[in-house]
Amino acid sequence: MKFFVDTAKLDEIAKAESYGVLDGVTTNPSLMAKVGIKGRPNILKHYKAICDIVSDNVSAEVIATDYEGIIKEAHELANIDTKIVVKVPMIPDGVKAIRTLSDEGIRTNCTLIFSAGQAILAAKAGASYVSPFIGRLDDVSTDGMALIEDLVTIFENYDFETEILAASIRHPMHIIDCAKAGADVATCPLSVIEQLFNHPLTDKGLAGFLADYEASQK
Ligand code: E4P
Repeated sequence: MKFFVDTAKLDEIAKAESYGVLDGVTTNPSLMAKVGIKGRPNILKHYKAICDIVSDNVSAEVIATDYEGIIKEAHELANIDTKIVVKVPMIPDGVKAIRTLSDEGIRTNCTLIFSAGQAILAAKAGASYVSPFIGRLDDVSTDGMALIEDLVTIFENYDFETEILAASIRHPMHIIDCAKAGADVATCPLSVIEQLFNHPLTDKGLAGFLADYEASQK
């Protein structure tokens, strides 16, 4: 299972990368807004700065919602670095654009996926990744994990090459359940990745080992 960190903050990305378990980064316009960068040239520079930290897979989302606009922005984003994956919303013009970009060899991540039907459309158009938002489904009393399980079954049935990128992850059990279901990628806030480290028996065990060592040296 690949781990992506879901943030545009360079310090968080560098920290996640330092653990040696990071495979990529996802951003979206809300996460970019949180960083507070103004103006298109500065936004493009920020994506480049992210690419300089990680080895591959930096999702950068288009703002345009019409076919021509999406293609123009996608080319601009893809030209920043070969690590860029162009994130395109699940709308009809988005799916058309994914087909064109896929034919051009530009990697895409179809975002805002909330149903199996949407994911099938994106996969058939040649998306490199689909991003089902499990936390936001849970937020409206719908089982987000059930969508991941359905997508794993469907994509295996048809040998779709599109990878299932579980997004909108809110807690460690989302990651564990995604891994059990067979999702290809989980994109998580840094805090959720770091929660995976924790177990009270690890803390207790380590404290015991260190105390025994200290006692043996007296
Ligand atoms: C990532 O690609 C998504 O944009 C992100 O995971 C959405 O997460 P949220 O529902 O917590 O905003």
